[in-house]
Amino acid sequence: MSTAEFQPKPRTESGSSALMWVSVVFGSALVLIFFLALIAGSLDSRPTAAQYSATQTAVALLPTAAPTDPPATAVAVVAAPQAKTRKYKLKTVFGGQPVMHLEGVGGTINGQINPTLTAEVGDTVEITLVNGDGQLHDLTVPDYGVTTGEFAGKDQEKIISFEATQPGEFKYICKVPGHEQTGMVGKLRVTGEVKAGDKPAANTSGGNAPVVPAAPPPDPAKPDAVSVVRNPTDMPGPIERREPITLKVDMATVEVTGQLADGTTYNYFTFDGKIPGPMLRVRVGDTVEFTLKNDEKSLFPHSIDLHAVTGPGGGAVYTQTTPGGATTFTFKAINSGVYVYHCATPSIPHHISNGMYGLIVVEPENGLPKVDREFYVMQGEIYTQHDFGTAGHMNFDAGKMSHEQPEYFIFNGAAGGLTTDDNALRAKVGETVRIYFGVGGPNFTSSFHVIGEIFDRVYELASLTGQPLTDVQTVLVPTGGAVMVEFKVDVPGRYILVDHSLSRLERGLAGFLYVEGEAQPDIFKGEGTGEAAGH
Ligand code: CU
Ligand code: CU
Repeated sequence: MSTAEFQPKPRTESGSSALMWVSVVFGSALVLIFFLALIAGSLDSRPTAAQYSATQTAVALLPTAAPTDPPATAVAVVAAPQAKTRKYKLKTVFGGQPVMHLEGVGGTINGQINPTLTAEVGDTVEITLVNGDGQLHDLTVPDYGVTTGEFAGKDQEKIISFEATQPGEFKYICKVPGHEQTGMVGKLRVTGEVKAGDKPAANTSGGNAPVVPAAPPPDPAKPDAVSVVRNPTDMPGPIERREPITLKVDMATVEVTGQLADGTTYNYFTFDGKIPGPMLRVRVGDTVEFTLKNDEKSLFPHSIDLHAVTGPGGGAVYTQTTPGGATTFTFKAINSGVYVYHCATPSIPHHISNGMYGLIVVEPENGLPKVDREFYVMQGEIYTQHDFGTAGHMNFDAGKMSHEQPEYFIFNGAAGGLTTDDNALRAKVGETVRIYFGVGGPNFTSSFHVIGEIFDRVYELASLTGQPLTDVQTVLVPTGGAVMVEFKVDVPGRYILVDHSLSRLERGLAGFLYVEGEAQPDIFKGEGTGEAAGH
C-alpha cells in the first residue's frame, strides 16, 4: 500500500470514552497485581475444597476436564433450616465506569455495578449471566471452579449453579483475557459456618492429592484457516516528495483464523488481516488523519498505539474501538525514525502476541539513501496451551504469557513464515538490501542476525538522524523497537534470518534470503555442493 492509496473514511467521535480508557490503561498496573494473583491461583493444580464440593451441575459446565472422582472426604455443611436458592442475574456492559463491568439485574442488586452477591453456607447459588453487549464473555467463580463458558451472542443467557460450601469472600470474574483487568470482577460473600468436626476436604491431605487430568487433545486444525504471513516485500516505496502534507490512513482490526504452522491453526488478531500490519510510510512533518475500524465480526475491542506519535497513549486514548465501530485521531509526525505500532487494549500483551503490531517509517526530510531492495520483517511470540509442534487448533494460554513461556516464535506471523517459496526474501548478487526489522514481542528481545552476512550499516534502534554503525554481525532489537540494516549481497546462495538466541530457530523463527547470480570464488569457495546450511 502506498501513501497515495490511503482512502478517506467516515469517522465517529470517540472523545467521551477517552478519559476512561486512560484510566484503564494507566490503572492496569494496579489490577495487574490482582491478575497475576489470579493466574497463580489458577495454576495451582489442586482444587480447593470448595471446588470439589461444587454441584454436579456446575462441574458439568467446566470447559476443561474436571476431576471425576469426588474425594472420599467431602465437606459436610450445615444445611440450615432456611437453606435456599439464591438467584442473581448479572448483565455484561461495555462502556461506563469501569469500561467493562457486570450490572445487577432485578432484586436488591438492580442497577449496581459489580454488585456483591451474598449467600449462607448451604445455600444454592444460581447466577444467570446475560450478554448485554454482544462481545465474548463468561462468568466464572474460580474458587468454586464454576463457569458459564464463553459466549458472545447479544442477549444470550447462561446459568451457573453451585452450593455455597465454604464461608468467605470469593470473586466472580469474566475470564476472557483482559476483561477482569478492565473491570469485570465482583464479590460473592458467603456467611455461616461449616459444621464443627468436619474438616475441609482434599487438598491438605498430603499423599492423597488428586491427580490432575491431562490437558484434553486440541480441536482439529481449522480447514478454513488462511495464511496471515505478510510478504516481506509488501510495503510502500520510498517517499519522493520533499514537502510535508496531510494524509489519511485507514486501518482495520480483523480477527483471523490462520495457519500457525503445518497442520496447526490459531485465532490471530491482526491489522488488515496480515502480520505484521501494513507498513505505514510518511515524511517527517506530515500530518496523519488516522481512522481505525474494528471489523464487525470481531469478538474483542481493539486500538492502536503508534510509537511515532507524540501524545498520550500514542493514539490509544482515542482509538479504543468496539466491534463494528470506528475511531479517528490526528497526529503530526515530528520525529523521523522507524517505529513500532501495536494494539493497546487490555490485556495488551495478549493482543500483541496474537499479532497486533507493525511498523511506521517516518522518513527524514531528505529521504533515505537509495537501495536496490527493501524488506519488512517483524518478530513475535505465540503462547499456546499445547506444546510447540502439536497438530490441531491451538488455544491462547494466558498463564504461559504471564510467565513469558511462548511455544512459538514467529517472523511475519507463522512458524517458518518467511522460509516458503512464496514469502522468502530474494535479491541478486551485487544488490544492496535494506531490512526494516521490528519486534512486536510482546516479551522477547531479538538478537537479529543473517547467517552468512554482515550488516554493512546498522541504524541502531532505528534512529535515522545519526551516523549508522558499520560492519555489524548481530544487532539487539528491543520489544517495541526496531532497527534498519543495510548490506550488499556479494555471494549467491541461501542466507537465513534468525534471532541468534537460536533455541527460537527450533520454535519456528527463521526466514530465507535467496541471492541469485554468478559464483564469487575470490570471496567464497569450497569443495562439494555447498548445500548444507550450517552455521
Ligand atoms: Cu468479558
Ligand atoms: Cu487488539
